[in-house]
Amino acid sequence: MSARLIPFQLFPDQASTVAPRVDALLFFLLGVSGFFALLIAVLIVYFGIKYRRRPGNEVAVQIEGSNRLEIAWTIVPLALAMVMYVWGAGLYFRLYTPPPDALEVTAVGKQWMWKFQHITGQREINELHVPVGRAVKMLMTSQDVIHSFFVPAFRVKQDVVPGRYTGIWFQATKPGVYDLFCAEYCGTAHSAMIGRVVAMEPNDFQQWLAGGTEGSPAAAGAKLFQDLGCVTCHTGGAQARCPQLPGLFGRTVSLTDGSTVVGDETYIRESIVNPGAKIVAGYQNIMPTYQGLVTEDQVLELIAYIKSLGAQGAEATTP
Ligand code: CUA
Repeated sequence: MSARLIPFQLFPDQASTVAPRVDALLFFLLGVSGFFALLIAVLIVYFGIKYRRRPGNEVAVQIEGSNRLEIAWTIVPLALAMVMYVWGAGLYFRLYTPPPDALEVTAVGKQWMWKFQHITGQREINELHVPVGRAVKMLMTSQDVIHSFFVPAFRVKQDVVPGRYTGIWFQATKPGVYDLFCAEYCGTAHSAMIGRVVAMEPNDFQQWLAGGTEGSPAAAGAKLFQDLGCVTCHTGGAQARCPQLPGLFGRTVSLTDGSTVVGDETYIRESIVNPGAKIVAGYQNIMPTYQGLVTEDQVLELIAYIKSLGAQGAEATTP
């Protein structure tokens, strides 16, 4: 136990690859703000004394402006603001562009807990195990109200919104147990919607992952696909009554109204709960809604199944 100068932790651990970058930008913004706040306060006092009214000096001298001064106080703040903009935008893109080899974990927020599932099938509640040194990409939704996934030690925060998927990614840099908070007021027990992220050495993580007994989400999705009867319409090649699903994920889909949509998680989810919203060109609006018949976890399993169908049969939905 090392003695601390202050009896509390002023800043959370820096435990992800982006954490030092976020902190550097924060300190730059604080530094610039602090410098100007101090400069202005000092000048107010200094000018207040220097130019105070004195006997025999009752009328102020009018100064009609100075181009050099005006150019300076335009260019300097502009340059500072552009530095903040470019720096912040670069960091934003980094935070929202997961590396292609990132490990995917799905999350469903609900009043008042976090539910996670790993690609191998392992489920967790209010606890998320991740490996150190490997990018982890979260695919998240909510089954009721807006929540927000916030891991201060990783400097990542992302809202979790019902009816659509949001994402964030991080790469833990040191093993440990870190706080997970809900950072959006979501009802009575919002403050109790807390959990922990356990960052483990890659070998320990593999061992932990191997301890699970659940099947993969894709396998569960395949079973649902049979049980819900999806299979009766969505198979049968080009003659089938409904669009074929192999190769759908990530592809651009043409719709009856002439527009197109990318076959991502949000589109697939909408097509399950509100099938009439976007009809694939060449097909009829005949699919019943599965709203209320499938949980958010099951929708994620169906999506995992459709993803697992890969890019084979990519011609299938062309009429
Ligand atoms: Cu969930 Cu606040």
